[in-house]
Amino acid sequence: MVVQGNMAAGGPQAKPSRERRGLSCQPAAANAGGGRTAPLAPPRRSAYYKAALLGRESLPLPTVFILNGPNLNLLGVREPAVYGRGTLADIEARCQARAQTLGLEIVFHQTNHEGQLVDWIQQARETADGIVLNAGALTHTSVAILDALSTAGLPVIEVHLSNIFRRERFRHHSYVSLAASGVICGLGAHGYELALEALANLIVNRSGEGGQ
Ligand code: DQA
Repeated sequence: MVVQGNMAAGGPQAKPSRERRGLSCQPAAANAGGGRTAPLAPPRRSAYYKAALLGRESLPLPTVFILNGPNLNLLGVREPAVYGRGTLADIEARCQARAQTLGLEIVFHQTNHEGQLVDWIQQARETADGIVLNAGALTHTSVAILDALSTAGLPVIEVHLSNIFRRERFRHHSYVSLAASGVICGLGAHGYELALEALANLIVNRSGEGGQ
């Protein structure tokens, strides 16, 4: 899914049928190393995932990590002609409100450091059901983030406030996209809300084949 804009519902409360959920405990990523390296331990998985797997009647809310990369803490003052006047706190408030209507729990973070993003993605692998990621400039450079996402085995929606395809050429390539179920760009803060909607669907309909 790619949603592009032009900026210069039914949430998971509905209990999926066991077949639709198609959940399995398989490790998210197969060992591609030809048998020489130790296989990756299966992720611990979120409380929602485990409860759904066991066919529990009442499921906890799925958890979505919303992760933001370098310089996004400066939204509001940073290049307002490109990113608008809204702050990251505004975006977080919009996400909280939308998550509530969708029946999602969110964990919202921002960092200027690549390793911190990798750590949070690894944490999401064990405790969350999906990731919304605006990796900022690291989108265009970070193989480490791509590797972490590929290992997480979770549905990922990549978000950019600006339409990266109307900007400099170096922004047209995204490592994050290689691990993303969908990409939303150019729609400003609304893109984050759309990403949550998309994830709510993906989480409920997640197949057993690695969850993408
Ligand atoms: C961005 C686009 C990136 O190219 C840029 O480096 C950012 C923000 C966006 O949200 O539009 O920091 O991810």
